[in-house]
Amino acid sequence: MCGIIARISKDLSPIKTLKGLKFLEYRGYDSYGVLLHKLGSDEVVSKNISELSEFELDRLSKFESNVEIGHTRWATHGGVTKENAHPHWSCDKKFYVVMNGIIENYLDIKSDLKNCGVEFNSETDTEVLPHLFSKYFKDTGNVENDLLLTSKRVFEDLKGEFSFVVKYENCILAYKNINPIAIGVCDDELFLCSDSGLVQNNSDKFYVLNDGEVLVSSISENNISSHFYCDFKEFSPEFKESVKSECDDENSFPTYMEKEIYDQKNLRSIITSENLSSIKYLKNALRNGRKLVLTAAGTSYHAAYVMHYELLKHGIMSSIILASELQNYTKVISDSIIVVLSQSGETADLIYPLRELRDSNEIFTITNTANSTLARFANRIILLNCGREVSVASTKAFSAQVFVSHLLNYELCGKEINDDLTFYENEFDRFIGNCLNILDDVCEKFYSAPDCFFIGRNEFHPFALEGSLKLKEVSYIHAEGFAGGELKHGTLALITDGVPVVVLGNCDEIVSNAIEIKTRGGVLIGVSSVENEVYDYFVKVPEVFEDIFGTIVLQLLALKMAERLGLNPDKPRNLAKSVTVK
Ligand code: F6R
Repeated sequence: MCGIIARISKDLSPIKTLKGLKFLEYRGYDSYGVLLHKLGSDEVVSKNISELSEFELDRLSKFESNVEIGHTRWATHGGVTKENAHPHWSCDKKFYVVMNGIIENYLDIKSDLKNCGVEFNSETDTEVLPHLFSKYFKDTGNVENDLLLTSKRVFEDLKGEFSFVVKYENCILAYKNINPIAIGVCDDELFLCSDSGLVQNNSDKFYVLNDGEVLVSSISENNISSHFYCDFKEFSPEFKESVKSECDDENSFPTYMEKEIYDQKNLRSIITSENLSSIKYLKNALRNGRKLVLTAAGTSYHAAYVMHYELLKHGIMSSIILASELQNYTKVISDSIIVVLSQSGETADLIYPLRELRDSNEIFTITNTANSTLARFANRIILLNCGREVSVASTKAFSAQVFVSHLLNYELCGKEINDDLTFYENEFDRFIGNCLNILDDVCEKFYSAPDCFFIGRNEFHPFALEGSLKLKEVSYIHAEGFAGGELKHGTLALITDGVPVVVLGNCDEIVSNAIEIKTRGGVLIGVSSVENEVYDYFVKVPEVFEDIFGTIVLQLLALKMAERLGLNPDKPRNLAKSVTVK
């Protein structure tokens, strides 16, 4: 994961970089680091474990600076320590590096460098970079060219996938391989980072680097110069106009997770003519018998599962593959439509195999992030348009993905969705108000429970998976989701007196499963459009969009449980929003 950021500017205030770094914390918040450099002065470096505090942001914003690089870390190589926080530097403190990715052969390089007398300060793979730059750098007085030639020599030593920025004097070099880097320009300023939306909000024009491309940029008293290279040959990138997105830093709710649950009232913004045309295209392709593969990770995988069940109703078979297992299938999938669901559009488990698969298949990406890597891989795209999701636990992107399945379903049935959508919007606030009272009681009763189970059958099965994932990631209560019929094949052994089980849907079989659980002492929390006396607690959901209303109940349950336990649901331990490592 990790986020990287850099700025070269005549404007001496580093505030854009510092605020940008705060914004990038969704990519990891184990530690942060930032370097500020005003021409003619010494570098100022601040790094620490934890997030960049408001106090430190305020302190640093008073410095003047023309060149900045920054990093927010999700630890992979080396524990969460101040020494392991980026930037890392060479022994002579001339080369500073921030990196996102993994250098696979860093131990060999490190041992060679140590044999030459280099002293390391950290356990990270990144630290080999500044030392390698220092080792190969030949100063001929043309700093941009010297840095470029050095990078060529450094790349020959490296294996792995990584994007990084190296700073040397008044110059930076950025290299992109797999992990995203977008570059924005406006008057007298170059701004780059891992998030193309943030780049666009801070620039007039932007360009997203492709794998293997290098940017070298430097600042002098009079000028900022920038050059782009592919295979070390200079090229002119095609910059696009930056599109500013709404600033959603304003949040009147206590947490982003709560805000984003309420944001789900708006599903209508998905209905754009571009999205509808993509859905029609998909429908026709499926009607014409095209092979379909669905793939995604985590919560998005559960949304893919929803689509799988929706299509089964129409007699359409799809193969559904976990992103992290997709690499096993690259040799056997061809001539298919691969529907890729990803909120961030940057999930590494998808990007690696899809780099291979996109040559012989059609990629159809459903994402919340225009210009993301997976959006750019796509032959067709559906944008979720649900606004930035800040909370690590995905909520509104899931409902939006489920809604895309509904749009496809209505399209396949030849039905209009508008009346049902209007009903959903009208019912939304009252529904949340009603279910909160019941969920408060449930949380009070079960906040110290060690385990919780979720069951659903047929189209409710993926929602059982999603409910359990939400609960465990924000409350740390062990939770498991099942197809209701599976309990008796093993897990029923764990149902004893007082174990909470959330039951979704209302078909006869799921009610039978609920009764089996009750017989063994389990406590039942029913979430369904049809009440049944077997339930100890019951949340009634409307029949229209029963699954999306049910999802909201599960999300609120997780949120309220986290609150009851005094946990911050927005930043669960060990997790990050955008999972850019395999
Ligand atoms: C859980 C969650 C993760 C993501 C998963 C895929 O709340 O957010 O499980 O769903 O990491 O991420 P995207 O959708 O960005 O590919």
